[in-house]
Parts: sequence; structure tokens; C-alpha cells
Amino acid sequence: MTMILTDDEQAILAGKEGEARAHAMDLLVRYGKALGAERLVDTNNVCGGVVGSLPGRRDVLPPDKKMDMDAVFSLLNLDSDKTLKIPPVKANTYKLIEAMDPDLYKVQRVSEETRRLVENTSEFCKRVGIQQSNTCTPYQVGNVPVFGEHCAWMESSAVVYINSVIGARSNVEGAHSTAAAALVGKIPYWGYHIPENRFGTHLVEVEYPVDDMLDWGLLGYYLGEMVHENIPVLTGLSGVPHADKLKHFGASAASSGGVEMYHLIGITPEAPTLEAAFGGSKPVETLRFGAGERKTAYEYFNTGRDPNVDFVMLGCPHASLEQVQLVAGLLEGKKLSENTDLWMFTPRALKTEADRMGYTKTLEMAGAYLMTDSCAALSKVFPEGTKVAATDSCKQAHYLPAILGFETWLGTTEQCVQAAISGRWQGDLS
Ligand code: F3S
Repeated sequence: MTMILTDDEQAILAGKEGEARAHAMDLLVRYGKALGAERLVDTNNVCGGVVGSLPGRRDVLPPDKKMDMDAVFSLLNLDSDKTLKIPPVKANTYKLIEAMDPDLYKVQRVSEETRRLVENTSEFCKRVGIQQSNTCTPYQVGNVPVFGEHCAWMESSAVVYINSVIGARSNVEGAHSTAAAALVGKIPYWGYHIPENRFGTHLVEVEYPVDDMLDWGLLGYYLGEMVHENIPVLTGLSGVPHADKLKHFGASAASSGGVEMYHLIGITPEAPTLEAAFGGSKPVETLRFGAGERKTAYEYFNTGRDPNVDFVMLGCPHASLEQVQLVAGLLEGKKLSENTDLWMFTPRALKTEADRMGYTKTLEMAGAYLMTDSCAALSKVFPEGTKVAATDSCKQAHYLPAILGFETWLGTTEQCVQAAISGRWQGDLS
């Protein structure tokens, strides 16, 4: 497949804007060809990882660790052995999750070496103009795309949110394609950028009154298992769900099945009617979600775990201010069990507000921490000796056993906080 490039794109490819942008354009063209894209599309909204300091990535750096950040970014973000002089980014670019909380890295047991890499990454971001929101939820802290906007975002839970809830257009990109997109302001025009690819495939009749965040997570997990990478269209919901519930729903469906887009009839912007959601086509399959499916999804996570909980992880995806407020209310005047830690993760911009409102202090008085920039599963930070965890997030419950080897309970936020106070899991599916 050949790609049609504009004169400007050809000129960048030929080196008119320097070696790094030429390399980035070449990377996008090769990537686009492999995907079958016929052209690139302009983007001015990129969210990616500057990945040199993240676990699993820093290990591939040479042992002397003396590489400058241009070399690290060239190697890990642009797949170039040659050090490219990285110019300022062209597209508005936000950085996703980091390896550590900048203030609580000692509690997180992060090494000095990693801390230095994070500092270097931060200096690099300042130099090239990458916003350091350091969160998997940029849409909670100021980067809210508009309907129809072409984006190049990397975090799956964020992509499914902006595609579905906002009607922006992004595929789940990688560290390389987002870095290249940041430098040239382009991304291959394929997948969810194309209107015809955004129609629903599976009809889902929701027969259980899905209401709290746990139910939304279980519904998402079930759907991901059933539809894989297709587009579910949900009917039978009552009322407009809070953004936090859709955040958990999408994250859950993206982790169990790779869902990047869904429609809620009468709620999400590309689904005013069933006909509009399916683009006039018939669903390939009709599924139902009732009490039985809900129970099956719940039992998948909650069977045969040790009831003694070492670590409660909240804030996956990163918590909103309302979620922090809820946990502060639950912990007011309480103390955590001496055998259990509770770490809650939120974007650093929201922690500033949580500090101002006194929520951070309330968590700390109880023995818990409100952390930023990082998360247990991806930053691989957790309290020493953890064997059994509990969380209110299906996505985190999916990843903690796989990545960190923890037995993991899943429940409501209230049940998780209760487990942190008593040290034992007592949650059930009411
Ligand atoms: Fe965010 Fe980590 Fe969950 S990056 S979506 S808190 S696994």
C-alpha cells in the first residue's frame, strides 16, 4: 500500500525541518503503510509516554546510564540508535504516567537511579514543551478534546473515554507513534479516525440496573470478554451515568477485551438512536447483561483469595476529586489496620485541590497516602511484602495478579476502605 503524502509532509520527510522530524515522519509513514492507511491526518492533541524512566524500559538503557535525554528519547521513543537532536514538539503534547510520585517516592521504595531518570525526563519535557500532567486521565485535568478532533493518545482507558464519551477520534497508539506525532503533528488516518469504522457491531441489552461504579466495571469487564475489539452498543440503561462510572466502564472493557469505543443509546454523542449507532447495519450479535453475567464477572475476581489484605489500591484510572472526597469521608477519624496500607492515586493537578480541601490530610491522619504521577501496576510501586491486594477497579484487579503476582480482591470503594481499616476482606456482591 502506498501512502499519499502532501507536499509539506514530503518536505519534512526529505529533511526540510531537520533530522529528528524527518525520522519521525518516516516512522509514521512506515507505520501507516503497515496498517493500510492511505494518508496521514493532522493532529494537535497527543498524549504519550516519555518512557525512559518507566520500569521495563529503563532496563534497556546502556549500563553506564550516562546517555543524555535526546539519546534516550531517540532510542526508546523513536527507535533510532543514532542520537537525534530533539526539537520542540509541534503538536500539543501531554505526558502520561511516570515511574513515581515526586514527593512520596521514598514511601514507594523507588531507587535513586530511577529518581534521577525521572528528573532528567522532566527537564527534557520542559525543554521540548511536553506538558507534564503525568496521568492516565488527561481529560480530567484540562486536556478535553472537542467532538471530532483527531488525537494521538496512547493510554487505552483514556482512548476509549474520548472516543465514546466525547466523540473525539483516536486509536490506542504506542510510545513510538505518539512521539513521532508530537514532533510532526500527524498520525496515520486509519481505524477510529475514519467515520465508517465508528459504528457499533454488537447490541447489548442491559437487564440489570447498573448503578454503582463496581457494577459499571463488571459490565465493562463482561463486555470486553464478549466483544474483544469490537464496538458494543448498550440499551436499557436508565439515566446519564457520572463521568467516573464511564471512566471505570471503559477502562474495564479495554483491559479485558481491547474495546476502544462503545455507544450508549441516548447518552453518548454518536448514538442518538440505535440506527445512528449501527450506521443503518444490523448488529452481528445480540448479548444480554443480567444478574447472572454480573455475578460471573464478580466471581472471576473474588474466588479463593486470602482474606488478610496487605494493600488497598484506589485510583485506577486516576481518581477524580469526588472520588478522593468520598475516601476522605470514609476515613475521617479512622485508622488503618497496622497490617494494611492504602494508597490512592490521582493526577497531581487534582492533588493540589485535594490538599486545599483537606482530603489529603484526612487520608494521612488515617495512615493512608494520596499519590500522584504513578500507579501500582504500571509504575510497579507497592508496599513492601504485599501478597494480597484489594481494589475498586476491574482494570487494576486485572493487572495486579498478572504484573505483580498479588492475589487481588475486587469490591466497592467502601468495601476496600473497610478492608484497609479492618485488615480483612469482608466485601460481597449485594
Ligand atoms: Fe492509570 Fe495505572 Fe490504571 S496508568 S488506568 S492507574 S493501570
